[in-house]
Amino acid sequence: MEKKNFKRTLITTALPYANGPVHIGHLAGVYVPADIYARYKRLRGEEVLLIGGSDEHGVPITIKAKKEGITPQDVVDRYHNIIKDSFEELGISFDYYGRTTSDTHRKTASDFFRRLYDKGEFIEKSSMQLYDPEANQFLADRYVTGTCPHCGNEHAYGDQCEACGTSLNATDLINPRSAITGNVPVLKETSHWFLPLDKWEPKLREWILEDHKEWKTNVYGQCKSWLDMGLQPRAVSRDLDWGIPVPVEGAEGKVLYVWFDAPIGYISNTIDCVGEGWEKWWKDPETRMLHFIGKDNIVFHCIVFPSMLMADGSYNLPDNVPANEFLNLEDDKISTSRNWAVWLHEYLRELPGKQDVLRYVLTANAPETKDNNFTWKDFQARNNSELVAILGNFINRALVLTHKYFEGIVPPAGELTDTDRELIAEIGRLKEEMTEALETFHFREALRVAMDMARAGNKYLQETEPWKTAKTDMARTATVLNIALQTCANLAIAFEPFLPFMAARLLKMLGGDKITWDMLGCFDLIPAGAKIGSPELLFEKIEDSVVEEQMAKLLRAKEENLLAAWKPAEVKETVDFPTFEKMDIRVGKVLECEKVPKADKLLKFRIDDGMGGRTIVSGIAKHYKPEDLVGKEVCFIANFEPRKLKGVVSEGMILSAQDADGRLVVIGPHGEVRPGSSVG
Ligand code: MF3
Ligand code: ZN
Repeated sequence: MEKKNFKRTLITTALPYANGPVHIGHLAGVYVPADIYARYKRLRGEEVLLIGGSDEHGVPITIKAKKEGITPQDVVDRYHNIIKDSFEELGISFDYYGRTTSDTHRKTASDFFRRLYDKGEFIEKSSMQLYDPEANQFLADRYVTGTCPHCGNEHAYGDQCEACGTSLNATDLINPRSAITGNVPVLKETSHWFLPLDKWEPKLREWILEDHKEWKTNVYGQCKSWLDMGLQPRAVSRDLDWGIPVPVEGAEGKVLYVWFDAPIGYISNTIDCVGEGWEKWWKDPETRMLHFIGKDNIVFHCIVFPSMLMADGSYNLPDNVPANEFLNLEDDKISTSRNWAVWLHEYLRELPGKQDVLRYVLTANAPETKDNNFTWKDFQARNNSELVAILGNFINRALVLTHKYFEGIVPPAGELTDTDRELIAEIGRLKEEMTEALETFHFREALRVAMDMARAGNKYLQETEPWKTAKTDMARTATVLNIALQTCANLAIAFEPFLPFMAARLLKMLGGDKITWDMLGCFDLIPAGAKIGSPELLFEKIEDSVVEEQMAKLLRAKEENLLAAWKPAEVKETVDFPTFEKMDIRVGKVLECEKVPKADKLLKFRIDDGMGGRTIVSGIAKHYKPEDLVGKEVCFIANFEPRKLKGVVSEGMILSAQDADGRLVVIGPHGEVRPGSSVG
């Protein structure tokens, strides 16, 4: 394929559903890489727009509203603001962060639909759809779950299986269930507008499979497999009361499908960002469009939205869709419903001033080619042994030594030695590597190379030992520290896309202001004679207690979740009185209790049963210490068949209740009762 010469880049980031805050999975997959790319392009002096916003329609919002007993509008107002503020605080440099409930968006999406409608691009047809009579609601998208016909995942949604990524129609699901009531849905007739994706299949094939062989293999592969399965018409309207009304007469009660309206949000937000001139960002073939998304969004950005754009006919198609895989947390899938996540707004509150650390760790572990894992231990290690020990250490040494030997004035460089020239050449080489990696969306690689620049700086100081030459040769010391300071300035540029807060502070200390990518690799960035600021520590060590607290918080969430999900067991089959009477339940008093050797669950009780006493072995050693129950009254089954447990014959069973967390609590009478009394 010929390489096009683009004049500007429009970067979009998937619009997160405003039904909850964003977590590290969103950040690593979409927002941090998009921000790195946008910052890099701006450093190159290119014209860039970074567009984002909240996705405020669709079933995820209405489900959340129902669960909390508030309106969908309340839900999106709350989360839109949390999301927007936390992105800003993390330094995600959106040119505009909008929302799909805005007036501009309502009009843009509505007009878009109407244009396609007027061109005859939709098929209107009645079909049988899943319906929940109890909820009085058609079931599409996330209102219905069932088994994926492609991969067998039992928790697929009505519009998509998140396990295999396939896009589905609700009626494709095997064993569908209403997500509202749990009922088995019935079929009911309703009419909708369908976008015939099959019509665009040949064009999509050519555009993706022929013209975009450079796309990431995960993206290209997914597209190919859908195209090979054959595309079907897809309904783009829904029977719902939350969304943008279908702008056609007689469409009461019908709204645009959320995946029809949301990507148009990229257009609406561009309009709100730049106003009048927005069309050049969407229709000028010299504009390059990139969609940053997670892997579950690939079909919508590579097949559905492009089909919509083709049906309109006046828009550009994306030039690339650098989708990432998923990030796991402590080896477990991130889950909003199970609260297994690190939430950005909480991170910012609990680890203030550590935005760059999170950006660094998420980039270093970015799930670029396969799912990856975030652990708090790794977070701490990367901070302490990379940011502090390599990057922070080099910068700090260069600045401290300059203050020590030259009162904070940049010393002049004299004649260069081979060591000096090697470092300069090395930084130049690393710049080339970084540029190549950034251009091809290999951000982890680019970050690793940036870190190599800091490593090269440390090695340089180790070799030149300015603290030694300071005793004998001040001119040489001056040269070395000049080069070390120039290297610091290079690091401010190289790291700006990744660690913008650090870069700004470093630049300020060095007395610099404007930086560009062209300056990277230059060694005359700070003039001799300039005064540099006093060295501040750019990174600080993260103590064990900090990450331990975060781990404890996660485990607490896991536990709370278990408790919240607990339901009493179903009532067993009915029994009649004579059957009940067969159970001989009695009160006994614990006389002695001890552990059963070689059995960590068992306690051996000697019970006063009013009949000379008996021995009972009970599996409650994890919940009681032997002395806990001595002298207490318990209920036991007196006619339970004797059993041998770890060599001890147990003559009965002590009754206990099991709490939601699995804890066992022994049952006893609430008043005084003689040992041997019957219970019934
Ligand atoms: N809200 C969707 C999700 O979280 C992403 C929407 S992306 C857009 O999966 F293109 F529709 F905006
Ligand atoms: Zn599947």
